[in-house]
Amino acid sequence: MSEREQPRRETVTLIDNATGRRVELPVRRGTHGPAVIEIGRLYKELGYFTYDPGFLSTASCRSAITFIDGERGVLLYRGYPIEQLAEHSTFLEVAYLLLYGELPDREQLRRFEDTITHHTMINESLKSFYQGFYHDAHPMAIMVGVVGSLSAFYHDSTDIRNPRHREVAAHRLIAKMPTIAAASYKHSVGEPIVYPRNDLSYVGNLLRMMFAVPTEDYVVHPVAERALDLIFILHADHEQNASTSTVRLAGSSAANPFACVASGIAALWGPAHGGANEAVLRMLAEIGNVRNIPKYIAKAKDKNDPFRLMGFGHRVYKNYDPRARIIRRMCHEVLRELGDDNDPLFELALRLEEEALRDEYFIERHLYPNVDFYSGLIYRAIGIPTNMFTVMFSIARTAGWVAQWMEMIADPEQRIGRPRQLYDGPPRRDYVPLEQREPARAAGGVHFQGEARVTD
Ligand code: CMC
Repeated sequence: MSEREQPRRETVTLIDNATGRRVELPVRRGTHGPAVIEIGRLYKELGYFTYDPGFLSTASCRSAITFIDGERGVLLYRGYPIEQLAEHSTFLEVAYLLLYGELPDREQLRRFEDTITHHTMINESLKSFYQGFYHDAHPMAIMVGVVGSLSAFYHDSTDIRNPRHREVAAHRLIAKMPTIAAASYKHSVGEPIVYPRNDLSYVGNLLRMMFAVPTEDYVVHPVAERALDLIFILHADHEQNASTSTVRLAGSSAANPFACVASGIAALWGPAHGGANEAVLRMLAEIGNVRNIPKYIAKAKDKNDPFRLMGFGHRVYKNYDPRARIIRRMCHEVLRELGDDNDPLFELALRLEEEALRDEYFIERHLYPNVDFYSGLIYRAIGIPTNMFTVMFSIARTAGWVAQWMEMIADPEQRIGRPRQLYDGPPRRDYVPLEQREPARAAGGVHFQGEARVTD
């Protein structure tokens, strides 16, 4: 190819209006979605950092796992639409897809299911960890602690530079999360831990470990099993969300995968992220009656009121969350089969959604129900207690976390995650000896006014 025929490298030029200096920055295009401007050289060439709190316009990595088109309400795992996976697949098949990039053939799936099934037991010593938690500890707090501690059990097989070690760690995490989660529930209700059984499905096993007792076994209801499997498919990955980015950031320092996933669980817990499913049910219970809907919609719109409509809005979706559409349909089926089709909270949720979607405030801001608006109602119908909702999310999201972690470690472009900052604290100043300091006008320390009293 002659020089004249060389394809032109796509660039954008940034001009510093103060100095007239310019820098040409390369543009990189992915398969779908907006192209990115590579700004790695910006500081060296112009002496600037970029500032983008909350990563509104910043890609933190490249990834071939999940794609979201928030404007059109599209979600793809490895290129496959979520609607097709929800209809035809199972959670373990989706986990395989996320980890290995392709749908398995029959034998690959059988072997993967077998491997996961044979890693579900936890070390007996781990059981004593639970005794260290107070009986009313939130199960998410227990999850963070117990999952983080797994590295202590597998330190001799967690060489993260060894691809086989990484794979085994991923299998262990996917396999053991249900066992660890069910045990945290059992601890919170004061019942003995139930061991996994190899003849049950992934979610069937989880349900049994949660609800069986030594005096009575638990028969898994097929509707509950299918509903939970579907919810797990929908929650399995969601590209660079807060908890996944946390896992990647922790992993970028070469921390072990168990510690990375524990940090992801901690990030997921927040009500703006995975804690929303729990918050939705609390909110519906607080609203209590359809007559109160206008009052709560007004509260959500009031900028002086911290109240937000939980389960509404999303950083990326500016259209109906495709997962919410699927789960809304499943909600009808589950309530008909397992619960009360006239469940007043479901009625309330449908009316709240209807009224919010008609409201100018929500229309203007493209605020639609997200996946968690309905997932809690399904969990409730299955009998899962509210404080376990986010734990369920963490089990499903483990598939995405480990897939993203494995992709990151294998990426030759990966470097330790080390964001820059815009420092706006005091300029350089000299230390003042204690006896020479003026009495502080606004006394040091942090004061909370009108806040609930806390023990420090
Ligand atoms: N209720 C009322 N107003 C809202 C809501 C809401 N749920 N969500 C966003 N807004 C308003 C917000 O006040 C802002 O208004 P203005 O432009 O007048 O200042 C505007 O909409 C844009 O919101 P934002 O906070 O800038 O958007 P964000 O991308 O930073 O936040 C969010 C996204 C999911 C944190 C937020 O929508 C929210 O807090 N939703 C409720 C919690 C929730 O359901 N979270 C689950 C997310 S899906 C599951 C998961 O990913 O874990």
